[in-house]
Amino acid sequence: MKEKLIWQGSAQLAPVPAVLVGCGDGTRRNPYNLITIGWCGMVCSEPPMLGIGVRPERFSFGLIRRTNEFTVNLPSKALAETVDYCGVVSGKALDKFKERNLTALPGEKVKAPMVAECPITLECRVKQTLELGSHWYFIADILAVRVDPDLVDEKGKLDMEKADLISYAHGHYYEQGPCLGHFGYSIRKKK
Ligand SMILES: Cc1cc2nc3c(=O)[nH]c(=O)nc-3n(C[C@H](O)[C@H](O)[C@H](O)COP(=O)(O)O)c2cc1C
Repeated sequence: MKEKLIWQGSAQLAPVPAVLVGCGDGTRRNPYNLITIGWCGMVCSEPPMLGIGVRPERFSFGLIRRTNEFTVNLPSKALAETVDYCGVVSGKALDKFKERNLTALPGEKVKAPMVAECPITLECRVKQTLELGSHWYFIADILAVRVDPDLVDEKGKLDMEKADLISYAHGHYYEQGPCLGHFGYSIRKKK
């Protein structure tokens, strides 16, 4: 095996999710908005919590700071272009829901908007905020998960493959590849 090159520390974690974060509460001061976030990850299972890293210069930053709520919408591959759009255009002067023909639904537990076209939405309330540097990290409780019923079988099992989710790596969007195994398959008896 060749010796690895040594680079300076940098943001090279990949792949990461590329999610549509819904924020605002639909008021004049805090209109509904969407921001594409790559720095998003689960941070705790019990209680269920996730974090998102947001730069203070984003329009969405003020919305999240003022309302302390947001939704994380997992986009399917049909929404890949919309994910890119919401990540390169600011909602300061335009309505991204309108521009992309998306339906904003109010959350059950939060006032932040869900994207109806996304198969899965996590409703989140900020619990802790870390001022890290270029980004602030909002750690949030996941108060509810909204799932497209078409993804759930008769036994109530969620089939994530049907959601056609996308990921992001080094500036490129990808669809999911074939399943390689399931949790614990390495130690299960092979038939
Ligand atoms: C794939 C992708 C991932 C991104 N991830 C982040 C992120 O994690 N944090 C962040 O602050 N901005 C991120 N951005 C940039 C914002 O989405 C972008 O600046 C957006 O236009 C801000 O919208 P707003 O001004 O309406 O809040 C990302 C952009 C793209 C395309």
